[in-house]
Amino acid sequence: MEIRRFSVIGAGQMGSGIAQVAAQSGLEVALHDLEEDRVQKGLRGIEKNLKRSVDKGRITAEEMAQVLGRIRTTTDLKEAAEHADIVVEAVVENMSVKQEVFRKLDEWCPEHAILASNTSSLPITEIAAVTKRPEKVIGMHFMNPVPVMKLVEVIRGLATADEVYAEVEALARKMGKTPVEVKDFPGFVSNRVLMPMINEAVYAVYEGVATPEAVDEVMKLGMNHPMGPLTLADFIGLDTCLYIMETLYEGFGDPKYRPCPLLRKYVKAGWLGRKTGRGFYVYD
Ligand code: CAA
Ligand code: NAD
Repeated sequence: MEIRRFSVIGAGQMGSGIAQVAAQSGLEVALHDLEEDRVQKGLRGIEKNLKRSVDKGRITAEEMAQVLGRIRTTTDLKEAAEHADIVVEAVVENMSVKQEVFRKLDEWCPEHAILASNTSSLPITEIAAVTKRPEKVIGMHFMNPVPVMKLVEVIRGLATADEVYAEVEALARKMGKTPVEVKDFPGFVSNRVLMPMINEAVYAVYEGVATPEAVDEVMKLGMNHPMGPLTLADFIGLDTCLYIMETLYEGFGDPKYRPCPLLRKYVKAGWLGRKTGRGFYVYD
């Protein structure tokens, strides 16, 4: 099957980045979110990124217009679903919300359509179980910021068909990414390794070992990380970090994954990082 029509559900930082990269690789994209202002915010982010590429001479203004011309926005999930060859879901990291979206996608998408999730940590098998096409459900986990990061973790659910895996792997390459195959266990590989480090950095602040600035400086200058773990946590979203730690904690039943109470407190306060203007740091 040739994948031409690509729908993205959720126009937040990940969904908008995925839509941008898909449109840049020549696919016809539908970008969906619940509210018009959210899809428009996602679209503005895409325009800003493309404009930067024009200013830097990487693409022409005409190419930018063509890419934008391949993206349509909608707040109607059925409309986004019914013409898609593949859907990539990038809504909030919550199993019941994702399952509800997949139930509707299963009902409204064409029979041949692949249903992919950009989940950071939730079991693909459990998402697939609410559909009548578990063999066509797969994890397509992009990294943030999507236009820059090369990796796509491709996660096979228990029932994912080999040909579906192959199609998604080829699509990731077409989008200029490097796919890596991972089995369906909590946090996959990326967040099983990354998130305990971030959680431990939060514990270091919680226990008064060092300030957020000091923790980040240690990891940047000492380990050559491009961002310190707390800057990265703010960038990812503290809500997403907490949900991932909860998935690891519940999924493995191991106390080593216990989310730091300070992380929980910040999320309860609505301090979600960059996207709300405050997390470990304050943003304009
Ligand atoms: N969107 C699009 N492009 C962006 C961007 C964004 N949000 N942020 C930066 N860029 C681009 C810039 O335009 C710039 O491109 P050019 O050089 O081609 O102009 C390039 O990235 C480098 O940016 P900067 O020079 O401004 O800053 P930098 O060198 O510090 O790089 C960074 C920024 C790429 C984000 C870098 O800090 C980095 O790699 N940080 C770590 C990112 C990371 O770990 N991501 C994974 C998060 S975990 C995840 O995604 C999985 C999960 O499930 C939670
Ligand atoms: P975000 O908060 O920026 O965006 C989520 C968007 O989903 C919001 O615009 C929200 O309105 C929308 N949404 C919520 N429920 C919806 C529904 N039922 N239907 C349609 N839209 C809905 O979050 P994000 O950072 O883009 O994360 C999205 C997904 O990607 C999560 O599963 C997250 O774990 C995963 N992810 C995040 C990162 C990251 O670094 N932030 C990296 C990789 C994967």
